[in-house]
Amino acid sequence: MEYREFYNGVKIPMLGFGVFQIPEYEKAKQAVLSALKVGYRLIDTAQAYGNEKAVGEAIRESGIPREEIFITTKLWIQDFSFDGAIKATELSMERLGVDYIDLMLLHQPMGDYINAWKGLEKLYQEGKLKAIGMANCYPHVLADLCETFEIKPMINQVEMHPFFQQQTNLAVMAEYNVIPEAWAPFNEGKRDFFTNPTLTEIGKKYGKTAAQTALRWNIQRGVVVIPKTIHAERMKQNFDVFDFTLSQEDMEKIKAMDIGHSEIVNHFDPSWIKMLHTFSF
Ligand SMILES: NC(=O)c1ccc[n+]([C@@H]2O[C@H](COP(=O)([O-])OP(=O)(O)OC[C@H]3O[C@@H](n4cnc5c(N)ncnc54)[C@H](OP(=O)(O)O)[C@@H]3O)[C@@H](O)[C@H]2O)c1
Repeated sequence: MEYREFYNGVKIPMLGFGVFQIPEYEKAKQAVLSALKVGYRLIDTAQAYGNEKAVGEAIRESGIPREEIFITTKLWIQDFSFDGAIKATELSMERLGVDYIDLMLLHQPMGDYINAWKGLEKLYQEGKLKAIGMANCYPHVLADLCETFEIKPMINQVEMHPFFQQQTNLAVMAEYNVIPEAWAPFNEGKRDFFTNPTLTEIGKKYGKTAAQTALRWNIQRGVVVIPKTIHAERMKQNFDVFDFTLSQEDMEKIKAMDIGHSEIVNHFDPSWIKMLHTFSF
């Protein structure tokens, strides 16, 4: 496994396992158990995914020591206040069955995220959160937060894949020493991702699939990736990306695939923002 290190010295594996869209208890638990068996040691969940309890149960059942597993979870907008963030974090710890969380994120920079962040800062200083970060920050928002917060975000988890590469965001993250993490590293399968001719052709040269090529490309850009799958074979495939290196020429070919915007979410659409504010789980 390769790692990136936050500015506070905490290390995060460059490849983790995401559990979005697996709300069913047994299904989520089995998926995490399988992923841990394959070798994944970073699990990315969120309060909004409704599966923190299953993640915690799988971790305990795996028998792997707690300190060998890196748990990320996220708080949703309705808990964004100083007290709300503290209470919600305690609930996450209870559901996960842990006495600390490796990385806590604010899921969106919306609502009263300034005071929620202050709550996270307190928990970080108390050692209950080993690292704190943001998700879904566009470059100007991230720059503003880094200029505002006392403790700067250690990570920014945003959508990043060959069709939406976020070069400006990466530059801002580099400037403020924020580690980039890619959600939907496969564009959630959109645009026939897994049979894309460019990714497939490049992958063939290294004996790899389009999925593996896309993960390797992000890892080579220094981006932490957290692909999701419920299939054990795909978990293995997605994990097998550390025995090859894409050439500069191939990196450039993938760079040319960028369409410069998301086709999954539209944070510039007011009705989308309203939906996020009223979303309940
Ligand atoms: N912070 C945020 O706002 C945010 C938003 C979205 C996601 N996330 C995090 O990022 C993680 C990953 O993103 P995502 O789940 O949205 O999308 P993704 O990882 O880009 O794509 C997941 C899809 O790809 C399929 N798949 C996975 N590996 C495959 C392979 N090797 N070959 C063919 N198909 C494959 C999966 O199908 P099967 O499961 O059927 O195999 C699933 O349909 C999430 O689980 C979550 O932890 C965060």
